[in-house]
Amino acid sequence: MAGTTKYQDLGLVNTAEMFKKAMDGGYAIPAYNFNNLEQLQGIILGCVESKSPVILQVSGSARDYANPVMLRYLAAGAVEMAKAAGGDIPIALHLDHGSNFELAKGCIDNGFSSVMLDGSHHPFEENARLTRQVVEYAHEKDVTVEGELGVLAGIEDEVSHEVSHFTKPEEVEQFVAQTGVDSLAISIGTSHGAYKFKVAPGEEVPPLRFDILEEVEKRVPGFPIVLHGASAVIPKYVEMINRYGGKMDDAVGIPEAQLRKAAGSAVCKINIDSDGRLAMTAAIRKIFAENPAEFDPRKYLGPARDELKIMVKEKNENVLGSAGKA
Ligand code: G3H
Ligand code: 13P
Ligand code: ZN
Repeated sequence: MAGTTKYQDLGLVNTAEMFKKAMDGGYAIPAYNFNNLEQLQGIILGCVESKSPVILQVSGSARDYANPVMLRYLAAGAVEMAKAAGGDIPIALHLDHGSNFELAKGCIDNGFSSVMLDGSHHPFEENARLTRQVVEYAHEKDVTVEGELGVLAGIEDEVSHEVSHFTKPEEVEQFVAQTGVDSLAISIGTSHGAYKFKVAPGEEVPPLRFDILEEVEKRVPGFPIVLHGASAVIPKYVEMINRYGGKMDDAVGIPEAQLRKAAGSAVCKINIDSDGRLAMTAAIRKIFAENPAEFDPRKYLGPARDELKIMVKEKNENVLGSAGKA
């Protein structure tokens, strides 16, 4: 299809109202990454059944994997599927870790309602310039923009770091004012992937830097903050993967109690990718271990999708606090 697609025509919403309600209500909107049909179905059904608003997010490489044109129709299909399942929930389609203007523009022109420009690996002024450029284009079309200050460790599309650098609260006010962003991702000790900390047996993982978060909240009161790298790396799925032939011995994530605390603060969006991957992989490994002759994709992708739905519901109800807020 030539031309551009407006997200409003797909039945999507931007994140502005979602974040306002989350800020006022003391909960966080879940942002689940997806790249295929089964993930999308699991996320949507989990959010419909728990009556939660949702941000469907897609990284640059996930967009290439799914195909940008296909994605537009998948998102429209997700909206219609939610309605047919009896839940008219707010759904945003968001670019995760956009690395440049062209990518963000391509998403905006193809029906995304929200984009992230992640310039966190650049010096402040360059980060602000790149982010501002995206904000100017996005806001013309009522698309919301997420920026990032501070660096998370771990693997992201085109943005990969060995070590993290915590956000400097004293930079936040100027960044928000200079760029016009609608939300800001900060670095307070989370990281991407399933191996977030190196801990000896019996040792606790280091707590998140809530002192930095509080300082940020003081400097930009009421401004929506985003937490990346926020999977709990759910132990029951790691155990299941290991039991059925996998090898993820040192996988460890953010304790749920810390995520619950963050969700009650100015953190309005919590990003979850790894936990969804773990839930699906655990289900698939179990099927293959117990039924080595199985070769119908529906017989292993179906249970994987169902497990993801369960994970999403539990997360919305017990961690994000977004259940019942649609
Ligand atoms: O933050 C990164 C997300 O987990 C996306 O991962 O680049 O492998 O799609 P990906
Ligand atoms: P996790 O790897 O902790 O799920 O983080 C995902 C994320 O931040 C996507 O942007
Ligand atoms: Zn991220």
